[in-house]
Amino acid sequence: MEFRLTDAQEQMRRKVREFARQIVATFIPKMEAGEFPFELVQKMASQQLMGIPIPTAYGGSGQDFLSYIIAIHELSRVSAATGVILSVHTSVGTNPILSFGTEEQKKTYIPKLASGEWLGAFCLTEPSSGSDAAAMKTTAHKNGSDYILNGSKVFITNGGAADVYIAFARAEKGVTAFIVEKGTSGLVIGKDEKKMGLNGSKTVTVLFDQMSVPLANRLGAEGEGFKIAMANLDGGRIGIAAQALGIAEAAFDEAKQHDLGVLLADMAVSVEAARLLVYRAAFLRSKGLSCGKEASMAKWFASKAAVTIAGDCLREISGSSRAERYFRDAKVTEIYEGTSEIQRIVISKHLAKGTGI
Ligand code: CAA
Repeated sequence: MEFRLTDAQEQMRRKVREFARQIVATFIPKMEAGEFPFELVQKMASQQLMGIPIPTAYGGSGQDFLSYIIAIHELSRVSAATGVILSVHTSVGTNPILSFGTEEQKKTYIPKLASGEWLGAFCLTEPSSGSDAAAMKTTAHKNGSDYILNGSKVFITNGGAADVYIAFARAEKGVTAFIVEKGTSGLVIGKDEKKMGLNGSKTVTVLFDQMSVPLANRLGAEGEGFKIAMANLDGGRIGIAAQALGIAEAAFDEAKQHDLGVLLADMAVSVEAARLLVYRAAFLRSKGLSCGKEASMAKWFASKAAVTIAGDCLREISGSSRAERYFRDAKVTEIYEGTSEIQRIVISKHLAKGTGI
């Protein structure tokens, strides 16, 4: 088995590591004060980081999925909030259009998203359906050349800052996906959630109040929405796993500056195991191979490693504001884009079917 990265992947690591240390780090104080980093998103755009795995034909950087995951990992080592902004934008804000959009939809939306001129978000979770995503209550009724959507979505990352929302609602033939532009009448951005971590990334409620979406903005067929959500969450979960890996490694780096004996050995093994799972899942996706089971394994393990290592780091190094931030940022990686319990369900379903590597 070949464990070496390609020259292009190594180059991505060097470039993003440098960018994270030199640029991203300077935004942390404002982000910790709760400010969304619009200027940083522009800087990421000027470094061609907003469409890493998107083909050049649609304005992306045309690099492989593993290079994109390396970028999330390196950004998250410095700022996990920045990691999630990019992960949600790319994996579930842009990629659904690339995978399921018509040529017209791809040409309209992807170049602007991949260049970073526009930011993407993903509206799946509802107040009464998080893990059981298929039980959503938001409705979409056909009305002439439009669909009218009604319902509410919660915990929407990038919500309010985004220009394009991939939204899911129940239509006549089942859960259906839509591309919704900022400024659409009836799209109401609600309150910012007060969070314990990931300060500076946005998490909001989004309301669809008699929201009119043109038929041309339906993504895929009616009833195909759940599959679209799940297929893109496979990639999304590798992104969150890479974010967790970044947090775990940052906490380990902090811990290494102190004499913590064998605890450092435990941390080193966990970081390395998480890295192998995350990079393997990303490698499979880069090759266009099935990676649902491996994505869930990576997310389940890396998020647990992040919480454990950040917790141990905080306990041993009192007074470190960085250790405190890593701990606050780690917890949600076990919750969003499918809780750890959901990852175990996905893994067990694959085991029962005998699918995956
Ligand atoms: N790719 C493609 N299709 C898939 C799929 C995948 N990975 N997983 C499932 N499907 C398809 C199945 O093939 C099946 O299709 P058919 O009906 O044609 O056979 C259909 O979807 C239903 O599949 P399941 O029977 O497995 O579905 P389920 O209802 O039993 O539940 C679940 C599956 C795993 C529990 C799912 O509901 C789930 O993943 N829940 C968690 C939701 C989630 O992750 N939410 C995250 C919100 S986004 C977020 O957090 C972003 C953010 O802001 C950070």
